[in-house]
Amino acid sequence: MSPKKPLKKPARKKLAAKKLLSFARKRDALPGEFERAGLAADFIFSRTNLRPRIALVLGSGLGAFADEFAGATKISYAEIPYFPQSTAIGHAGRLVVGRVGVVPVAGMQGRVHLYEGYSAKEVVFPIRVFARMGVKAVILTNAAGGIRRELSQGRLVVISDHINLQGVNPLTGPNDERFGLRFHDMTAAYDRRFREMAVGEGNRLGMGMYEGVYAAVPGPSYETPAEIRYLRTIGADLVGMSTVPEVIAARHSGIRVLGISCVTNAAAGILDQPLNHVEVLETAERVKGQFIRLLKAVLPQIADAIA
Ligand code: HPA
Repeated sequence: MSPKKPLKKPARKKLAAKKLLSFARKRDALPGEFERAGLAADFIFSRTNLRPRIALVLGSGLGAFADEFAGATKISYAEIPYFPQSTAIGHAGRLVVGRVGVVPVAGMQGRVHLYEGYSAKEVVFPIRVFARMGVKAVILTNAAGGIRRELSQGRLVVISDHINLQGVNPLTGPNDERFGLRFHDMTAAYDRRFREMAVGEGNRLGMGMYEGVYAAVPGPSYETPAEIRYLRTIGADLVGMSTVPEVIAARHSGIRVLGISCVTNAAAGILDQPLNHVEVLETAERVKGQFIRLLKAVLPQIADAIA
């Protein structure tokens, strides 16, 4: 066969236009968020026979809880189609599906954050996957700075409500009604019954439980003392850099939410000392056992409530 003759300029242009058109068509045919979440859910279901109705997002230091799941299937985020991958220290980046007692659960060992450069939509993709898996309740955990004085280092605090100061909402853009309504209610974002269960169980275990309002900021820098005074003034008890996008997406799809913060440090300016991430991780590590006991006590009650 004779070698191909180089194309003349107009022919080259035509070919480029054709390629562009075919690319645009392909892009339009690419799966949307709902389909992508469905594909990820199918992939997870291809790896385990369990069909959990409760999911846990395990924040800083808490991932170890998922290592205790019985009959566990561990799936690295990198394997799950379209799943975002965590770059934060103290986050393993694995989904563990297994049992706590008799309750099947899916546990995320680590999450992604806005401060890592992910969009709000990417941050909530795992929640969309849970929605497609038929999950009915999600327990979101995090590390937070304590603004209210009683919320001292090491305390576990049940989130009663939040203030979104991250400047973004994962539902911005066209709404897919298959996930939920365009304008969804957030008056009872943190399930009242779940909150009572967590406070009740925590108190029964001698943990002296409090509830508090969580303010979400973009991070990654910690706040200034002036920002903490401002947050206190507007009604925040806790401050952190996660959780709120996930709560918004979960409620959008009708998933009931329990949020629990571990106060890893007094917020900036409360004590006369600088904040650092090592302290945050050390406190989370120290309180881990208590946190796990609380989660184990609450899980069967949540399972009953959604049955
Ligand atoms: N501020 C913001 N996020 C945090 C803090 C804090 O003090 N502690 C743990 N996460």
